[in-house]
Amino acid sequence: MKFDLEKLPHSYAYKLLVGLVAPRPIALITSLDEEGRLNAAPFSAYNYLCTDPPIIGVGVANRSGEAFVPKDTARNIRRTGEFVVNVVTEDIAQQMNICATDFPPGMDEVELAGLTTAPSQKVKVPRIEQAHAALECVEFTTMEIGKSRIILGRVVAVYVEDQFVDAEGPYVKAEELHAIGRMNGLGNYVRTRDAFMTIPRISKEEWNKGQR
Ligand SMILES: Cc1cc2nc3c(=O)[nH]c(=O)nc-3n(C[C@H](O)[C@H](O)[C@H](O)COP(=O)(O)O)c2cc1C
Repeated sequence: MKFDLEKLPHSYAYKLLVGLVAPRPIALITSLDEEGRLNAAPFSAYNYLCTDPPIIGVGVANRSGEAFVPKDTARNIRRTGEFVVNVVTEDIAQQMNICATDFPPGMDEVELAGLTTAPSQKVKVPRIEQAHAALECVEFTTMEIGKSRIILGRVVAVYVEDQFVDAEGPYVKAEELHAIGRMNGLGNYVRTRDAFMTIPRISKEEWNKGQR
């Protein structure tokens, strides 16, 4: 089937893109409002974009039905300039899902999900203590595009639990971390446990040899 997204309703773009850009990593973002109240919510329109400087990007849609009302995460980041991306693994998947619930302002998603926080190294926003890894970010810029905000964050510090670091690299022992990814929308996820495969890169010399 072919789809002309310039002629179809927005729901087509959403359904097709979330099905095709998958699996996606999940950023459980902690942020603080101007009064210092903690907020946490998951986002899968998320990836790292470059490493020099280290920049990650997150797409946050405005509240549904309200063209110009941003979600708390986007508003907090714009006003305070800091946030933490907590890496979502199998063991905190249910808690992450609770944080996605649209609780009224003033309700602490982190506490409701049974999670606790630990201080970050460089930013005021705490990380989730139960998350095995976290990226501390300062807002690089926020772009308002249509009914969404695209937030670029500069990663200023990284936390990884010792057991998941191979100090030689340092590399992350990603096959042991058991991060989960989001497939489509509507509660669909994928595990990375026992799902790794290795495809070594081919040098030009190896390719040339193979051709003869
Ligand atoms: C796994 C998962 C991924 C999500 N990804 C996004 C996303 O990329 N962009 C977005 O706007 N909302 C996303 N959501 C919905 C938000 O988490 C939800 O709207 C949340 O209530 C926003 O909270 P806030 O207002 O505290 O920022 C996602 C939800 C889940 C469960």
